[in-house]
Formats: sequence, C-alpha cells, structure tokens
Amino acid sequence: MIQDIDLSNLPKHVAVIMDGNGRWAKKQGALRIFGHHHGIKAVRETVEACVELGIGYLTLYTFSTENWNRPKAEVDGIMSLLVKTIGEEIPDLHKNNVKLKCIGDLSQLPAKAKKEMEDGVEKTKNNTGMVLNLALSYSGKWDILQAVKKIAAQYKTEEINLDDINEKLFDSHLATSPDPDVDLLIRTGGDHRISNYLLWQSAYAELLFMDDIFWPEFRKNHLFDAIKTYQQRERRFGKTGEQVKDKK
Ligand code: IPE
Ligand code: IPE
Ligand code: MG
Repeated sequence: MIQDIDLSNLPKHVAVIMDGNGRWAKKQGALRIFGHHHGIKAVRETVEACVELGIGYLTLYTFSTENWNRPKAEVDGIMSLLVKTIGEEIPDLHKNNVKLKCIGDLSQLPAKAKKEMEDGVEKTKNNTGMVLNLALSYSGKWDILQAVKKIAAQYKTEEINLDDINEKLFDSHLATSPDPDVDLLIRTGGDHRISNYLLWQSAYAELLFMDDIFWPEFRKNHLFDAIKTYQQRERRFGKTGEQVKDKK
C-alpha cells in the first residue's frame, strides 16, 4: 500500500531490469512476443506509481546490446512494438510532466524506432517532473566505453589534463548524466544478475530481486512493495552500522 511508504526516504533513482516476458508468455502457451506486448501495461503502472510517489528518476532496461543477438523475428517484433507504444504513450507521459530520455546506442535502431524516440524526447524535453530513461540498445560496458572515448578526445585536444579525470568528470560523460546514481535496482523474473546494465551508476545500489514475478505481472503495488523493502535496508556506504545510526 502506498500509505505505508515513508515519503521522506524515497530512492532518488530507481532502475528496473524488466525480465521474464518470454517465460510468462510460454507459461500461457503463447509466443514470446505476446509477453512483450503484455509488458507494456507493467511499464505504464511502474511509471504511474513512481510519478505518484514523487520519484525523481526511473531507468527502464528496455533492450540490451546483447538482445540484438535474439532471433530476427523477435527483434523485429520488439522494434515494431516500440514504435507503436512510444507514439501511444507520449500524450500520457506529457500530461504527467514526465521528461523522456533515451540512453543507449541509438544509431543501431531501425529508422522508425529512432524517429519515434527522438520525437518523444523532443516533445517532453521541457517537462519538469520525473525523468524517465529508456535504456535501448544499452549496456553498461558500452556506456563506460563511450565515456572513455569522450574523455580521451578531450585529453588529446588538451581541453583537460590527467588530473582533471575524476569520478565527477567521468559521471558527466555517462549516458545518464546529469542523473544521480541508482539507489534501488529491481529485477523481476528470477535471475540474479546485472546483465550488463548500469554498471558504474549502480556501484552502491540496493539490489532487489523479485523472483516470483514475471515482468508482465508487475503492478503498482509491486513497486510500492519494492520501495518499502528499500526503506528497511541500512545503507552504510562502507561505514559501520553504528556510524550510520548515530547520524540519524
Ligand atoms: C525481458 O524479457 C524483455 C527483453 C529482454 C526485451 P525476456 O524477453 O528476457 O523474457 P525471458 O527472460 O526470456 O522470460
Ligand atoms: C536483460 O534481460 C535485458 C532487458 C531486460 C532488456 P535479458 O533477459 O536479456 O538478460 P539475460 O540474457 O537473461 O542475462
Ligand atoms: Mg530475460
């Protein structure tokens, strides 16, 4: 229930690995793409729940670099679904003051999907509410490498010197910049891995594996439950439990 949530202790940045669409579909004797279709309602509920709570940043793992290696029919199906869904969802996102961003190697996307994304980003760019990052053709290693390349180029032109390279500068070149690091990382579907997601940004994230839920089943109350679990965690950032408690 939303009422049990302490609004003064919300994660600033929630990231989700939306996993289990294919297995959910298979369980009903349907094709994997049926699961992806049903995942859209779960996305809508998650966005709405985060907006209701006042979460600042939500980053959804929509399609990974590695997902390009799936059978062509599934990749094509996901890409057409993306085009259709983004177009349909933008008015509601806009109404909710959500600012849509897209992180990942967008040059890999089919032209239509890229165009829909860019239009959505443009339409919502002045919104001041929650930032919704769709990680598309994204991987954590890709993100780190593209940041390294930008920093190397700045070093080469002597815009920066070696001592300027620190965490803050590195952060500023990541695809998620200027968003804060991830506080809570949720994965549905039963697997306990990061799958090349926000590797740098999740350095101190609380990890929550919601094993009993396939992504198409995810609803607002699951998100509220996840926040409640997060609020029971003690985040120590390397300090002792006593130090953290004394500060409270
Ligand atoms: C997540 O569900 C969606 C994408 C990766 C695009 P999966 O498609 O990975 O579903 P499972 O994990 O095979 O059940
Ligand atoms: C991670 O799920 C990517 C997305 C949810 C978009 P996968 O299903 O691709 O991850 P692995 O292959 O099981 O690690
Ligand atoms: Mg999966």
